[in-house]
Formats: sequence, structure tokens, C-alpha cells
Amino acid sequence: MLAKDDFVVVTRRKRRGKYNTNNYNKNDTSMPGLNQDYNWIDPERLLCKLKTMVLNVWSETFTIEVFKQLTEYLTILESNDISNIVCYGLGRFSHNMASRYQLAFLLCLKKRYEKASIYIYDPLFSSGEMRVLRYLGLRVIETNEEGKRVIEENGITLMFLPHCSRQLTNNFLYANWGKGLSNCILLANSLSYISYMWMNWQVERFGYIMRILPYVTECQIPEFELEDKAFNGLSLHIFPKQELLKVPNEIWNFKEEPKYLRDDQELITVAESNNIGKNIIIIFFGFHIIFLIVV
Ligand SMILES: C[S@@+](CC[C@H](N)C(=O)[O-])C[C@H]1O[C@@H](n2cnc3c(N)ncnc32)[C@H](O)[C@@H]1O
Repeated sequence: MLAKDDFVVVTRRKRRGKYNTNNYNKNDTSMPGLNQDYNWIDPERLLCKLKTMVLNVWSETFTIEVFKQLTEYLTILESNDISNIVCYGLGRFSHNMASRYQLAFLLCLKKRYEKASIYIYDPLFSSGEMRVLRYLGLRVIETNEEGKRVIEENGITLMFLPHCSRQLTNNFLYANWGKGLSNCILLANSLSYISYMWMNWQVERFGYIMRILPYVTECQIPEFELEDKAFNGLSLHIFPKQELLKVPNEIWNFKEEPKYLRDDQELITVAESNNIGKNIIIIFFGFHIIFLIVV
């Protein structure tokens, strides 16, 4: 059971003006500039909200059903535990209710699979949000991997990509292209729905999704009644070993790095995040130089 004091509320900090950017931490390497307007948060309030949400989500039929499905999938994958959980694209949970519910669910997963290490990344996280995540015992990934994280060979990794772009999922499949995919469970937008929607004209761009589809076992997750927008359209997917054995070698052998057109970019790339970072530094120093000249 989840105890009420699973969270300790942090001590109240002096309230700063909204949008105060003084708490910008130069040592934070993960694109601080992207989130300037969202930098200010009240950690105490946020943690209180999350604490209540986790208690509610934990007892939801949705969560019980998802846990049951995970156990079933782990059995198919000949395992009984999850060793790593990687979450990409959670979004700005301090401002977005759906993201907050997704975070609450992630914390329920943490509680359920207590031995698992949990990694999380979104280029839009503010430094304040990252501090909250670290406080909650999650490991914030420091660089933009563009979804290309290679999962461990031993143990099962749960990839949680709530409403993330097709590019991110496609990149993840590319990075793990091969029989090692049987070491993961993917909780993301339904792959069968993506392929149905894009089958005729995006085959090349989302080739990894399209090529693996015949070998995927997919199960739609139940409705989440507390906030419809948090989990709609998501499915649990596995790539069972016996299915992957059927994949012809020429499919595995084709492994070109995916390239996307600029007009269908929903993925924030390393280059984009670096550019935004540079622009913010220029603005930051430019502002100080102007200030010194005026003074
Ligand atoms: C459609 S939003 C989903 C947000 C939230 N999970 C929801 O359901 O409302 C997609 C998210 O993917 C994130 N994203 C974009 N590029 C990413 C990258 N390279 N790595 C991780 N997340 C990324 C975006 O910042 C955004 O928060």
C-alpha cells in the first residue's frame, strides 16, 4: 500500500516574483533557456498536489488494470520484474494537469517496481521541475538523446512515452533495432493506430514503426477516469522473442539513421535545443551589457 507520508513536503521557500529567472542554474545542462517563463514554481504546493494525485491514481481501476497487464506481459517476456523505467516527453507538469497525472502514475510505477531505476527527460522541463523530479527520487537525463537510448540487455526496461511524437518512438526503435527489443515494454501512442493513420505516405519517415508492426503484441490501456487527456490513445506494446525470430534478416539489416522533414518535426532535436540555449545566453549577456552601459 502507498502510505500517506510517502512524500515529505519541502520547507516553504521565500516566495519569489512569478517568472523570476534568478533561479536559473548555469550548471543545469539540459536546455535551461527553453523554459524561462515556466521557471518559477512553488515546490511545496506542487508536491502536495502530487501526493494527493498519487494516492488517487494508486487506487484507480486504471492503475490496477495496467499493473495486471504488465504482469501478463512480463510473463510472456519470461521475467517477473522491471529493472529500468525511462520516461520521455512528460511535458511541463507544473503547469499541465495531464502531465501531472502522468507523473503521478510514474510515481505509482516507482512504488510498484521498487527496484527499478527511473530515468526521465523532456527538453521543456524547467530547472525547478528538474529539482522536484530529483527530490522525488527520479534520475533526470542530462542530455537530449532524441529518444535513441539503448536499453540494457539484462532485465526489462519499461519505456513510457506519453503522447510523444512518432519520431521519438521511431528513433527509439532504430536505436534498439534487433532482437534486443524483446527486453522492453513500450507504453506509448498506439503503434497500430499510428501505422493506420500514416501508412500510405509516411512509410519511409517512420519506417522502423512500420517494419516492426507485424511482430508487435499490443494492448490498449483502459480509460483513465480522473483526467481523460492523460492516457487516451496509449497502448502497452511488447516485442516477444518468438515473434522477433520471425523477422527476416533483411529487415534487421536495414538500419539507417532516421531523418525527418522540417515540416513534420514534433521532436526537439539536439541542434534545436543547443541553438535555443545559445540564443538565451546571448540575450542574457546582451541584457547585462546594456544594463551596465545605461548604469
Ligand atoms: C505532445 S507533447 C506530450 C506532453 C504530455 N506528455 C501530454 O500528454 O500532454 C510531446 C512532448 O515531447 C517532448 N519532446 C520533444 N522532443 C523530445 C526529446 N527529444 N526528448 C524527450 N521529449 C521530447 C516535448 O517537449 C513535449 O513535452
